[in-house]
Amino acid sequence: MREWFADGSASQRVKQFSLEAAGLYLDYAKNRITPQTMALLMQLADEAGVPKRRDAMFAGDHINATEDRAVLHIALRAGPDASFKVDGKTVMPAIHDVLERMRVFSERVRSGDWTGATGKRITDVINIGIGGSDLGPRMVCRALSHLAGNGPRMHFVSNVDGTELAETLDRLDPEQTLVIVCSKTFTTLETMANACSARQWFLDRGVAKDQLASHFAAVSTNVEAVRAFGINPAHMFEFWDWIGGRFSLWSSVGLSIALAVGFDAFAELLAGGRAMDEHFTSAPLERNMPVVLGMIGIWYRNFFGMPTSCMAPYSTSLELFPAFLQQLEMESNGKSVQLDGRHVRAHTAPVVWGSAGTNGQHAYFQLIHQGSQIVPVDFVAPLRPPRVLPGHHAKLLANCFAQAEALMRGRTAEELRASGLSDEIRIAHMVFEGNRPSNTLLVEDVTPHTLGALIALYEHRTFVQGVVWNINSFDQWGVELGKILAKPIECELTGDANAAASGQEPAQDASTSALIARARAALGNA
Ligand code: F6P
Repeated sequence: MREWFADGSASQRVKQFSLEAAGLYLDYAKNRITPQTMALLMQLADEAGVPKRRDAMFAGDHINATEDRAVLHIALRAGPDASFKVDGKTVMPAIHDVLERMRVFSERVRSGDWTGATGKRITDVINIGIGGSDLGPRMVCRALSHLAGNGPRMHFVSNVDGTELAETLDRLDPEQTLVIVCSKTFTTLETMANACSARQWFLDRGVAKDQLASHFAAVSTNVEAVRAFGINPAHMFEFWDWIGGRFSLWSSVGLSIALAVGFDAFAELLAGGRAMDEHFTSAPLERNMPVVLGMIGIWYRNFFGMPTSCMAPYSTSLELFPAFLQQLEMESNGKSVQLDGRHVRAHTAPVVWGSAGTNGQHAYFQLIHQGSQIVPVDFVAPLRPPRVLPGHHAKLLANCFAQAEALMRGRTAEELRASGLSDEIRIAHMVFEGNRPSNTLLVEDVTPHTLGALIALYEHRTFVQGVVWNINSFDQWGVELGKILAKPIECELTGDANAAASGQEPAQDASTSALIARARAALGNA
């Protein structure tokens, strides 16, 4: 790469390997690619059927074959004239109906018109959910917190470790707290345990059972379970099984977003996602941002065998984006079986990791610069920060750009010697081999619109890669077994031996049994 950038046509390279779409600017010039590489990768995308499967997704086909479902999160952010259908039936009226209910509810809470049972304003909202019912809205609320105005404070509780809920509740006044129980299935162990404990917290602090309705709302596809839990279906915001959990923040799962930053901002987030959808469906493959990013990822994963990829947002506002991306990519494409049931013959999703810059520079960037494995990096940076302190943003951007430059260019022994160094051992340690790839994505500022486009970009990138690997990016069977095995173990830990014995699964292995025995002793159930 260093040589490519040294030659007179480098500006042509930048022109050729950069793209703008939906308010995002992507520079992918610092990759190990030539025009021929990109042409061949585009040919691969085409031959793998990316345009065909993209069109099938937008047509509402059941592309989630193992669950026999359509995949239509794109309908949630579609324009007023869209006509998405599932099994021949239009879904747009239902979507608009729920959106309207979200608007009314969020405006009532934010204005103080919706109060707790004692007539006090809602000052705090807890979203109880996990995975897709947590990571997306949590990330967006964090990113847009500068737009919160005088809306309620948002809290997110996901872990079944009671510490998270207990510490959150410690800070809150039940009279002014609203809980959103957010779960596609409304059966998820962590969410239901936290929801039950939150309900008990209200009861223990003097909120009567018949007053709970003012303090609970539900987001789910499962009306029966919501009713059984005791939440008034009038306070339930529906979504549908053709929306995957990790793609659901555009649905009523985004209720916490509308509460935190207002419905208009939520609508702008949808508009940003829509702008990326329009780009994805209309741009030719070689100028199509999700396709280009997806195929560059394939290039490193499958042709170079790079096992991980790093997401480095240079923005505290976007600090939760790597965690969101982890679920998006690793739950979607962490698969080993093709659509036809045969084993995949190539590696699928890399391990995705990262955190906000510049913090990462003082932690793990050492490995990215000089480690024995090459880690492709995606840098994401807003040109204008939500909060301005004199001098800070130039320092932030300078560091972001410098990291990408250092990774590409490296530092040679000759350069070190020319700078006066002569200790060859030291020089060996100080050489950066360079030639390390990265993409840089710039957004004007952290607005709902650009954030929506950014999220949709990575959703479609994930989709593109799943198509090339010929896997189903929309199921997640790999999370099942651990859940099944946890049930009898929980019974043993709590001393419910009969229930444990009636479990379907065989007794545990010796290692697990020893762990259970130690935990039982600590819990006083030995
Ligand atoms: O266990 C994984 C998972 O099913 C995710 O795919 C999902 O986002 C999460 O659990 C939460 O599920 P639910 O919204 O049904 O509670």
